[in-house]
Amino acid sequence: MRIAQTRIRNFRNLESALCEWHPGLNVLTGPNGAGKTNVLEALHVLTGWGAFSGSKCADTVRWKSEGGASLAAQVEGEHSAVVEAAIVARASLRLDGRACRWGDLRSCVQSLAFLPADMALIEGSPAVRRRFLDVLCALVFPLYAWKLSEYRRIARHRRYLLGRGHAPRFTDETMAGLAVWIWECRLEVATLLQKYLEKWSALLPRKIALELKRGGAGNADDLNEDFHRSLDLLAERERLSGVPLVGPHRDDLILSCEERLAGETFSRGQRRRAALALIMASASAVENRYRAAPVLLLDEVTSELDAEGRGILMNSLRESGWQVFAATAESSLPDFDGALWKLENGKIERVEPK
Ligand SMILES: Nc1ncnc2c1ncn2[C@@H]1O[C@H](COP(=O)(O)OP(=O)(O)OP(=O)(O)O)[C@@H](O)[C@H]1O
Ligand SMILES: [Mg+2]
Repeated sequence: MRIAQTRIRNFRNLESALCEWHPGLNVLTGPNGAGKTNVLEALHVLTGWGAFSGSKCADTVRWKSEGGASLAAQVEGEHSAVVEAAIVARASLRLDGRACRWGDLRSCVQSLAFLPADMALIEGSPAVRRRFLDVLCALVFPLYAWKLSEYRRIARHRRYLLGRGHAPRFTDETMAGLAVWIWECRLEVATLLQKYLEKWSALLPRKIALELKRGGAGNADDLNEDFHRSLDLLAERERLSGVPLVGPHRDDLILSCEERLAGETFSRGQRRRAALALIMASASAVENRYRAAPVLLLDEVTSELDAEGRGILMNSLRESGWQVFAATAESSLPDFDGALWKLENGKIERVEPK
């Protein structure tokens, strides 16, 4: 899939912009505060992921504007569609003129974002890696987002009961059913990621091995039995801590390199390259599942990469054949095939590469 055209009105610092995008690489440049990340966020909304994390959709409406923000995109490729989002206090979404949900937009165009915070994928907390797995699972398994939110609701309830000194036995069965389903999805995408990392190994400083460590659980093959057995084993600790200790909410994706954690062995630039390789592997997994090309939204994509790393990244993006939106504040870029866009004070225009 690709986004052929977008219309953006009163979104963040972008007052009004109509863009005909390149089907391949679109590089967004401009000084700090120009609106590059805001363009990526508009595409993030239009592809069903909402505002960037930490913001609510209502925050994206341009300050002092009247009537809210509006976004629209013409999508082309394996099928064509018109996607719209009107944002006031919340977002109203439309697909080909009919009201729809976020999940419908995610199935229409499969986008994957790489934001500065994703740098922490390699060395950050398990929550960052769980989020990364969740995004991929939500794209690959259509019911995933819904089942995950149900699971979280029950886990919160279990925590509430534990906190009040109750034995939450009646949550065990419902939690187990959802936990096993989520674990199966995560195990499958971890295997897919390992397979497709090979394809983008030029970006990797050294080979890395991926393993899903299931939260609080043992190593048994029968996930359901393992869940119940682990609950029994940790029942006393749960009671004392008041925290649910078994289940996907405590998973981690272990990334290791020659028997050490990748976060410990890689330098900052190497960690960035490894994180980019993981995003590329995710996109390959999505492409394989949907038989449709994903769209990549990459922010501050060249920072901390040396000349070789930038060259490899540009080559990888070109080879992928996917539509890419890459923002960078750098003015000197390696040569690339695609379109160069310049942003200044919320205005965007296509310019000729130097
Ligand atoms: N709701 C809003 N209304 C108007 N302006 C906003 C709103 N939200 C954020 N901004 C402004 O948007 C501006 C640019 O944001 P953006 O993050 O896109 O810049 P950028 O080009 O990515 O810069 P950098 O190179 O520093 O990453 C900021 O100066 C911010 O004040
Ligand atoms: Mg930015």
